[in-house]
Amino acid sequence: MLDKIKSTATFIQSQISAMPEVGIILGTGLGGLVNEIKIKHTIPYSEIPNFPISTVEGHSGKLIFGELGGKNVVAMQGRFHYYEGYSMQQVTFPVRVMKAIGIKTLLVSNASGGVNSGFSIGDLMIINDHINFFPEHPLVGKNKAELGPRFPDMSEAYSKDLIAKAKQVAKANNIMVQEGVYLGLSGPTFETPAEYRMVKVLGADAVGMSTVPEIIVARHMNLPCFAMSIITDLGVEGKIVEVTHEDVQQVAAQSEKKMTLIMKELIKELN
Ligand code: HPA
Repeated sequence: MLDKIKSTATFIQSQISAMPEVGIILGTGLGGLVNEIKIKHTIPYSEIPNFPISTVEGHSGKLIFGELGGKNVVAMQGRFHYYEGYSMQQVTFPVRVMKAIGIKTLLVSNASGGVNSGFSIGDLMIINDHINFFPEHPLVGKNKAELGPRFPDMSEAYSKDLIAKAKQVAKANNIMVQEGVYLGLSGPTFETPAEYRMVKVLGADAVGMSTVPEIIVARHMNLPCFAMSIITDLGVEGKIVEVTHEDVQQVAAQSEKKMTLIMKELIKELN
């Protein structure tokens, strides 16, 4: 794996002029952040050695390099989900590569279902912790000490400093944000009412099918992380209705402006 990470990083370094300081993974319906980036280079995943082959319908993914909030960033337009059939190593490979080319912070967005009865559809939730409910763990297997420790600490998976900064940004811009725990599971089914209840009983505020693997691998490498979720549907008793991917995308699109603003202003605040 180390060889693959290094050769992919070397390829990317040969293509771009300025190395990014910040890595961004854009979730469902949140691609609008790309419009804010002063783009310098775009590399389709299909041209990147060792990158998983994309199965995303419609448009295939790309890495976007450019300037945002006064910093050089790399954004993943399209992520690899476990439910698509990728291994956990494939899902998290881009995070390894982004670290290898120099990112110092990882920002992640996603869409999720809210199980906290105080949440409404369209709310933004700052993720302050997670519960890993995926059937596989990305760090199972021989540990590479060059990347990180065998038993990584997870006491601050989501940087308290970045959360505090994001809350300040939200307040200064009159944006209401929720804060809570994200439970990640495999999908691709949305939850049954009993499963939403389970998610709540387990101590989470929202549930989704991404983010947790990427954060685990980032924390293995000691990268500070910040993640936000758009609550696109509710798994709250009495409020559960049929959910479709189109509903999720539509709600995400409506709330993405607020999230984009927070992410952009947060990047300005990074040291
Ligand atoms: N469950 C799981 N993943 C999701 C949901 C949900 O309700 N909404 C958006 N992604």
